[in-house]
Amino acid sequence: MTFNEMMEAIEARHSVRAYKDIPIEQGIRNQLNAFVDECNKESGLNITIQYDDPEGFDSRMARYGSFRNVGNYIVLKGKKIEDFEFVCGYYGEKIVLYAQHLGLNTCWAALTFNKKKVKTLVPADETLCMVISLGYGETQGHPHRGKSLYDVIDVKGGMPEWFVVGVDAALLAPTAVNQQKFVFTLDGEEPAIRVKGFGSYTNVDLGIVAYHFDVATGKKVKY
Ligand SMILES: Cc1cc2nc3c(=O)[nH]c(=O)nc-3n(C[C@H](O)[C@H](O)[C@H](O)COP(=O)(O)O)c2cc1C
Repeated sequence: MTFNEMMEAIEARHSVRAYKDIPIEQGIRNQLNAFVDECNKESGLNITIQYDDPEGFDSRMARYGSFRNVGNYIVLKGKKIEDFEFVCGYYGEKIVLYAQHLGLNTCWAALTFNKKKVKTLVPADETLCMVISLGYGETQGHPHRGKSLYDVIDVKGGMPEWFVVGVDAALLAPTAVNQQKFVFTLDGEEPAIRVKGFGSYTNVDLGIVAYHFDVATGKKVKY
């Protein structure tokens, strides 16, 4: 993906929970699978995609969470490596933006899926982080009001333009219940990110948000 395509995907992505009853085309599957393989090589995770498997979101929790017609999902899992949750967030979002680029829609799900079914897909030596629904959305979702730049930075004095661009991209990232519990700092020229306050899944959120920042700035934010 080019830089412009990645920025377009960041702008266009919103959580989509209701899907059309259309299978994902084979050509798209091949591209996605190759991309996931690359992500696994880079990260040490073992992320997989379940196609044509409505059972993963067939549960009371999923219906309660207003998921409809989820035929496919990404399973974020792997050996419990260092910073497991952050790394799952980072690479999960990398796959989400690629899926968006391929014309698909997604929604992260920490709770509202069929855990009993998904656990059967996780070998004994691996840990399940969470899942992401995947498919052709009934709609493209819609933007949500969230925090603004000064709510999520802790910087004394001025800041370079690239830093503002990075934080703006981070503010478009999905977070659990849209909590956005993160803060960006600058140590000289070096950007860093940390959790602010308390919440669930804040380390997964941090990985997701860090990926948006890195895409927009071409840097690697310190965690
Ligand atoms: C780590 C994480 C866990 C999430 N878990 C759920 C979930 O269990 N059920 C659900 O319906 N949405 C879940 N979401 C989706 C968020 O509610 C959604 O991303 C947030 O409200 C912002 O909306 P947007 O993605 O459209 O920008 C989760 C998102 C993240 C990042």
